[in-house]
Amino acid sequence: MTRVLVRPGSSIVTAFLITAPLICVATANAQGPSLEQQLLSEPVQDLAADAREKGDATRGAFLFHSPGLGCVKCHGTSPSETSFGPDLASWKKTVDDNHLAESVLQPSKKIDPQYQSLMVVTSDGRTLAGVQRARDQKSLTIQTGVGKTDIVSISLDDIEFEKQTEVSVMPAGQVNALRRRQEFLDLISYLIAIRDGGSEAADRLRPSAGPERPGWSGARPARIRPEWGTVPTRRQ
Ligand code: HEC
Repeated sequence: MTRVLVRPGSSIVTAFLITAPLICVATANAQGPSLEQQLLSEPVQDLAADAREKGDATRGAFLFHSPGLGCVKCHGTSPSETSFGPDLASWKKTVDDNHLAESVLQPSKKIDPQYQSLMVVTSDGRTLAGVQRARDQKSLTIQTGVGKTDIVSISLDDIEFEKQTEVSVMPAGQVNALRRRQEFLDLISYLIAIRDGGSEAADRLRPSAGPERPGWSGARPARIRPEWGTVPTRRQ
């Protein structure tokens, strides 16, 4: 029998320890459909019904606030001037459970008209993509990201071309950051709880700041869509 003596800590062992889990993850992904594909293959009514029955809103709140998922980067549960998306604890209209599940899975299927995405090309050749914040006879204000400096005003005279886009600012595929279907049910259960209980429920369910949220900073601007990161913006 051949025995290969490897000291623990040697580079071979270290290399194996580092690559083995990566190989396992890669194989797992290659074998099955992604969580997003799995969930999309189910009728949305079933997901919503299971969320009501089996979802845990407290765990969902934790996921919603976790940096890994990043929902709070855009959906503050208390209004702030830089919120990119709607405050999900204060609905101006009634949305049903199916819509909640669908909005997370397929953000572009139904876009709230107030958050319609815009693409603007200026006469000096800049391209801006984001959500309209204000418009009057002279200028357009567009929000291109979650940072305070991502709100840009452009004079209408400087706009060469403008078009509404069919893609929501909210990224698709976010559910793949979840580990299993149950976590999706928990997340939807949380959205149902804050829809029904408003900001009081959001405050009650909010995970306390602490070591569970390492490195989290609500103020950190995020470039969620890679292509937006390359868009040159002139700050005013
Ligand atoms: C890059 C910013 C961004 C991120 C990150 C984001 N959202 Fe959104 N979300 C939006 C915007 C903008 C809208 C409104 C436009 C639309 O309906 O697609 C929206 C809409 C929604 C709606 C539907 C609201 C309605 O009135 O129809 C739900 C529910 C929702 N988001 C949940 C989530 C959850 C859960 C997460 C985390 C997994 C998340 N969002 C992450 C920006 C974001």
